[in-house]
Amino acid sequence: MKTFYLTTPLYYVNAKPHLGHTYTTVVADCLSRFKKMQGFEVCLLTGTDEHGQNIERAAAAQGLSPKQLADQITAEYQKLWARFGIEYDQFIRTTESRHYAGAAEVFKRAFNSGAIYKGQYSGWYCISCNLFAPESETAPKCEVCERLTERVTEESYFFRLSDFQQRLLDHYEQHPDFIMPLSRRNEVVSFVSGGLKDLSISRTSVKWGIPVPNEQTHVIYVWFDALVGYLTGIGFAPGASAESFQKYWPAQVHLVGKDILRFHTVYWPAFLMAAGLELPKQVFAHGWWLKDEVKMSKSRGNVIDPHLLLTHFGSDAVRYFLLREVPFGLDGTFSYEAFIQRVNSDLANDFGNLVSRTLTLIAKNFSNGMPYPSAIEGRLALDQELEKKALATVDAYQSHMNGLVFSKALESVWDLLAHANRYLNESAPWALTENLDERPRLATILYTSAEIIRITAVLLAPVLPESCKRVWEQLGMKSSLRSQRIDEIKWGGLTVGSNLGEITPIFPRLDKKAMIEKIFQESGDLMVGTEPKLEKATGAGAPAKGAKSQPAVPSAAEAKPAVAVSDGKITIDDFAKVELRVAQVVSAERVPGADKLLKLMVDVGTETRQILAGIAKAYTPESLVGRKIVIVANLQPRKMRGLESNGMLLAASVGDEGQPVLASFLEEVPNGAKLK
Ligand code: MSP
Repeated sequence: MKTFYLTTPLYYVNAKPHLGHTYTTVVADCLSRFKKMQGFEVCLLTGTDEHGQNIERAAAAQGLSPKQLADQITAEYQKLWARFGIEYDQFIRTTESRHYAGAAEVFKRAFNSGAIYKGQYSGWYCISCNLFAPESETAPKCEVCERLTERVTEESYFFRLSDFQQRLLDHYEQHPDFIMPLSRRNEVVSFVSGGLKDLSISRTSVKWGIPVPNEQTHVIYVWFDALVGYLTGIGFAPGASAESFQKYWPAQVHLVGKDILRFHTVYWPAFLMAAGLELPKQVFAHGWWLKDEVKMSKSRGNVIDPHLLLTHFGSDAVRYFLLREVPFGLDGTFSYEAFIQRVNSDLANDFGNLVSRTLTLIAKNFSNGMPYPSAIEGRLALDQELEKKALATVDAYQSHMNGLVFSKALESVWDLLAHANRYLNESAPWALTENLDERPRLATILYTSAEIIRITAVLLAPVLPESCKRVWEQLGMKSSLRSQRIDEIKWGGLTVGSNLGEITPIFPRLDKKAMIEKIFQESGDLMVGTEPKLEKATGAGAPAKGAKSQPAVPSAAEAKPAVAVSDGKITIDDFAKVELRVAQVVSAERVPGADKLLKLMVDVGTETRQILAGIAKAYTPESLVGRKIVIVANLQPRKMRGLESNGMLLAASVGDEGQPVLASFLEEVPNGAKLK
């Protein structure tokens, strides 16, 4: 039997999963189900990446051991995948003993082949991404997450990455599909062509990791460790690997986000070459889900909680949106508005209506049994055209899915649904129900339409598993939907004469405004609240820009004060008006003639600005440089001692003297991150 092994990244366990992590996993599940329905023996691997300094620090910040945090977050991932109906075949945790043995084995093999040597490392390192940064005099920002890197100086084992430059370039050339999409391939080729430096692959200052074989004071670099999870998860082991490893390796595709492309297309193949193992067939890098124009990420505080979506919309709607809305490979912006729009127009209108119109007419006119169509020669051109369109769609769908062009695959199915809805409108079966002579025609129309529904349910089963199962039952199909073969779809597969199941709406229409308000109310999620046009409080008496005159009597909304005050409490909307952001002090100096005042230049991620702060008695200017603080970023500028202050920093006021103590963070946070 043909096999197909695909993987998601192994997710870090420093924080709960958000929509970005959900994306890759949903895509992987959909592809896995699709391949199964093409007759492949599939293995889908996912898991968690549990070692390294970022996990160590996150755990310490919560008063937990790294293992305790890893257990908690792994459970969160597994719970979420269960709610999404993700059917993974393997879940690998890098803290499992089967993984330790395998990682040490790959290290040994690479060492024995001469690809690893011992040396001294001194350089900049991003703790959060586990990424080395180029040499520079002061700490550079990480090129991926833009956090400041930290200096690391220690004895280290090095991987001779520089030796692999030509072999990697040859591999890219001989396997043009190895890196997809093509734009990403070009990026990697030009990076590797620019020359590769040897890579430090062990740490002595980190304890939370897998020991280097025969060198207990070093732990293996977390990326080396985690990537090997793709092997250990399917049974790679020292000595004899399990049969499943022989069966599935090399992987058909590693699905990854664009931020971790280099690890998968430069480091990983080089590690495998050094260890004498085969390379995966493909690495496909998808884009990011953005919110408010930037990558959705925990540290930026702009994540969408997948549980919230599941609770309000169910897993199929989310799966569909993720796959349909944005071409796989590009970035996309998440908005509840676009989400609900898609669910209503594609699922409720196009698919849902076709199902309910067709099945209700069959139930009413054919005693709830699937009717017999006319023989081929009795069919009209428009019936045959629809059949042709359906079979062409099956081909187009498969070819797009095989190329991981999910949005196009779904577009092709919606093209078919549009054709079928037009067919129903033109054939107007409802106008034929009273005339006995028209019964054969009525039967043919409804059979044809039901057959489109059957084919669509098979095609969409990987994307909308729960809903298609319900459609399948309503059609009265006897065989199981799961056992259907997408590559063997033929016209005429309905079970004629069989009784339909109970007909209930599969995709109810959502009331956009009410839904958005509900989510906002229940979750208090400010990002939801930014979408509905919440009443804007206008400044008292200030005419809107361009307004010529004001009404004599203000409307109720206008009469509201800018901030609704009731027993000293403010609403969440009021709080949302204050923009609190992380900033980093770039320079600080005293203001001549003002003994309390310091003039600070702070980096707020997008710009550097000047802030004056009355903290000179508590902090020396030198002690502030490099420090992360919290500022109110949207205050109107004001002048103090002739200098402009563009924002305000936050500090606790302690004791009778009101001694300022700056608000700060225990964990690494990027400049500009919003507090909410
Ligand atoms: N642990 C490493 C992967 C090791 S694989 C051997 C890692 N983990 S991660 O949890 O930080 O990220 C996992 C995946 O989630 C990455 O592919 C990343 O691109 C993806 N996403 C995280 N945020 C995302 C969005 N906002 N949008 C889409 N995917 C993003 O990296």
